[in-house]
Amino acid sequence: MGRRMLVAGNWKMYTTSGEGAILVQDLADELSDLDGEVEVVVGPPFTGLKAVSTVIELDHLEIGLAAQDCHWEAEGAFTGAIAPRMLLDLHVDYVIVGHSERREYFGETDETVNRKVKAVFEAGMVPIMCVGETLVTREALETDPYVRGQVTAGAAGLTPEQAERLVIAYEPIWAIGTGRMPTPESANDVARMIRATIGAMYGPPVAVKMRILYGGSVKPENAKMFFSEPDVDGGLVGGAALKADSFAGIVRAAH
Ligand code: PGA
Repeated sequence: MGRRMLVAGNWKMYTTSGEGAILVQDLADELSDLDGEVEVVVGPPFTGLKAVSTVIELDHLEIGLAAQDCHWEAEGAFTGAIAPRMLLDLHVDYVIVGHSERREYFGETDETVNRKVKAVFEAGMVPIMCVGETLVTREALETDPYVRGQVTAGAAGLTPEQAERLVIAYEPIWAIGTGRMPTPESANDVARMIRATIGAMYGPPVAVKMRILYGGSVKPENAKMFFSEPDVDGGLVGGAALKADSFAGIVRAAH
């Protein structure tokens, strides 16, 4: 189907800018023998974007840059917030939007997620929109309607050209940082349902091009199982993205 695999690291609130600069350099060294078949992206905290972006540019690294959040307005009196164009200015390619930690601890709703998704596209970057259910929702067998609702609301009002470039990360909340995981088949079932939802909104040709990542306790040892599934086009990686060798192992698994 020609979807390029994407492996993105979410460094969360772990790295200083100096640590990030070293981590991206170490990662590039680990990946130096690879051919660029898989797209590799790192996501430092805001304060690390400049340093990481500088290393990427000076060393001509084939590594993309993601921010972990942004505001939906282009500018304004929003103390502490970061506008999309400020990220573009630092050569950010992707913005993670609606991560479950943002939804849980910072009051993100499907509505704010949707506004951010649109703002990121309007600024010229690509959102990685996160969706996923809690354990309670999964055990109530309500994963599909719940995630479908998140996708329908979060991806509403896009142009077809935007929708096909959107990246959706399916991250079951109970699998994030826990070592627990769905089976690859059940992750694929949800990914397929997400693709069908986008297909119903924007047409099957758009849905076929859109990439869907799996996230939640992805490690070098289990990555290949998830990446072999037909509707899973890569991964969003937290803990294992903080060490160059383990992240590189996950990127290799995507080849
Ligand atoms: P994890 O985090 O890989 O540490 O489970 C994934 C994420 O939060 O994106």
